[in-house]
Amino acid sequence: MIPVAVIGASGYTGLELLKILHNHPEFQVVYVATSEGESRVEALHPSLKKVVSLPVERADARAVADVAQLAFLALPHKTAMGFARELLERGVKVVDLSADYRLKLETYEAHYCPHEDKAHLPEAVYGLPEYYREKIKKARLVANPGCYPTASLLGLLPFIPYIKEESPIFIDAKSGVSGAGKKLSATTHFVTINENIFAYNPLKHRHGPEISEKIDDLFVVKPAVHFVPHLLPVTRGMLCSIYMELEKTVDPFEILRDRYGDEPFVRVRETPVDIKSVAGTHFCDLYARCEGTGLFISSAIDNLLRGASSQAVANANLLYGFDEGLGLPDLAYVP
Ligand SMILES: NC(=O)c1ccc[n+]([C@@H]2O[C@H](COP(=O)([O-])OP(=O)(O)OC[C@H]3O[C@@H](n4cnc5c(N)ncnc54)[C@H](OP(=O)(O)O)[C@@H]3O)[C@@H](O)[C@H]2O)c1
Repeated sequence: MIPVAVIGASGYTGLELLKILHNHPEFQVVYVATSEGESRVEALHPSLKKVVSLPVERADARAVADVAQLAFLALPHKTAMGFARELLERGVKVVDLSADYRLKLETYEAHYCPHEDKAHLPEAVYGLPEYYREKIKKARLVANPGCYPTASLLGLLPFIPYIKEESPIFIDAKSGVSGAGKKLSATTHFVTINENIFAYNPLKHRHGPEISEKIDDLFVVKPAVHFVPHLLPVTRGMLCSIYMELEKTVDPFEILRDRYGDEPFVRVRETPVDIKSVAGTHFCDLYARCEGTGLFISSAIDNLLRGASSQAVANANLLYGFDEGLGLPDLAYVP
């Protein structure tokens, strides 16, 4: 068994990591941490009582390096890079769920904060297996993609070779409230979000530049990306409706099946996708329709799993040469 650490274990993605790793045949959680420590996993998460019983430490990179080979960082951005730097220097591999290593330096600093680990940033590999699998296998630092970029990129990338010159891409995205993390804010308050829906940070959300940068990384064309996220009154799940103009009409099912037919965790559906069919799983479900040269793509994931924790474990599987799907959840919370 490979000994691993989960840092940020009291948060939403930390809990999902603990659940997936509990059933994983090759990884064993040996170190669990939060900012305060001095607790036990089952006290942080009553749902784990009689399932997982481990002490919770105050996060300390030296202590991680003493016992673990790999660390999952389920931490806020900025905090994550402080730990990652020290862990990498001590020989611990890192899968970082935050945004700290996802972007080029200029993009990161324009949208987040000054970067505090410029030494390791260039070696980070973007952890979207369907597009960066071979690089992930050779990495020691994986930048787990954002949830909206995961759903958006898996849907739109197969169509970039067909996009009309100068056509922008419009992404209308909707996320369950767990996407905002466990900390309460005015917009995530029950009274605000219950039976409600609204856009937030329209055209200036930080995931817009992440989507653009990865299109630029993989293709020559540089379409403008207009990204508008919305908050949905559900706990988990994410739906992205994507629109673009193509050079000529195409059969979108053929394109999606050609690209993803051999991918075990992307499902091409005959009817528009829904979040309930993917909630609780590592699947990304896709649907597309082309009318003339107008293209509509619909993409659904579980933001906490394919958008964060199960993708992190898929990346860890690749880092260690295991089957990418080892231990990943595949049964949705339906009905
Ligand atoms: N939620 C999603 O759907 C989603 C999707 C993709 C990516 N992400 C990213 O994944 C990361 C975690 O997200 P989340 O939703 O799980 O956040 P969260 O629910 O707010 O949890 C954050 C965790 O970080 C811990 N933490 C904060 N500062 C710390 C420190 N100095 N030392 C040790 N632990 C510290 C917190 O512990 P305490 O309880 O001690 O404060 C908590 O366990 C974020 O960077 C987020 O952007 C989230």
